[in-house]
Amino acid sequence: MAAIHETMLDLVGNTPMVRFRTDEVPDVRILVKLESFNPTGSIKDRACLYLIRNAIRTGRLVPGKTILDASSGNMACALAYFGRILGYPVHVICNTKLTEDKRGFIRYFGAGLEVFGDITVEGNRKCKELADADDTYCFMDQLHDRSNPQASYETLGPEILKDLPRVSAVAGSMGSGGSMCGLARYMKEHSPATMIITSQAASGTKIPGTGAFVDGDYVTPFIEELRNTPLYDDTFLVEMASAQRYTRLHGQTQSTGELRWPSVRTFSWGMESRTAASASLYRADCPEEGISL
Ligand SMILES: Cc1ncc(COP(=O)(O)O)c(C=O)c1O
Repeated sequence: MAAIHETMLDLVGNTPMVRFRTDEVPDVRILVKLESFNPTGSIKDRACLYLIRNAIRTGRLVPGKTILDASSGNMACALAYFGRILGYPVHVICNTKLTEDKRGFIRYFGAGLEVFGDITVEGNRKCKELADADDTYCFMDQLHDRSNPQASYETLGPEILKDLPRVSAVAGSMGSGGSMCGLARYMKEHSPATMIITSQAASGTKIPGTGAFVDGDYVTPFIEELRNTPLYDDTFLVEMASAQRYTRLHGQTQSTGELRWPSVRTFSWGMESRTAASASLYRADCPEEGISL
């Protein structure tokens, strides 16, 4: 019998995993953790809920205040949705990487939307100015608030180790770096042998949610922590061609009627996830069992 939940908030996390098969590395067991099963369809639901709950717990977010933050798209969708559910107005500042589907989603859930700048930190600075000038805003500040990595530390890490106690490697992409920072910290404490692989956009490559740090995208304190501690073992620069190739292969598979990429058929395969998949294949020579976020 399916579990009964009180609210949609209870459906964040505990996402399922599915096999990812590819002829390139037939002997490696790669699993994809389907963060698209979160209510608004991305890993950012985890951080969003932690940021909102922390702001309520500390008294910063009270009825009458408007939730405010900057995002490249998925966090904005999550804020629009959970703000609506919890009864708080939401205003988001997104950069030019925002896709049309996300623009529609944000508007559908009634949030105010401004498009400003090419990278999230520009919107983040504008949010700070707005919040300093008008105290009806409650600025979430996903680029600096530690609730962001804490969400992955407390949920994603334990979920992965519960299902895969001897996972060799985990790959995921870095935007704010919150998800991989929290996850990497948990893994280093509880499963030090697990290799952590991050993906970043290569120079000139615009992928929402995946920073092009080589081109000067903002390095948050979480990314500093990942680099300096160091919490990750390797990092992979993803070119647009590599991120796009899974979609093309999926297309070819459909036209020939072969079932060579069965798992790819079963889930929505966003750009950020493709960068993580590229990263997992990049180091698939090493792990016997890897997971891609
Ligand atoms: C699907 C997806 N994966 C990964 C990331 C990167 O997450 P983080 O900001 O925690 O680095 C994002 C960021 O927007 C995302 O949307």
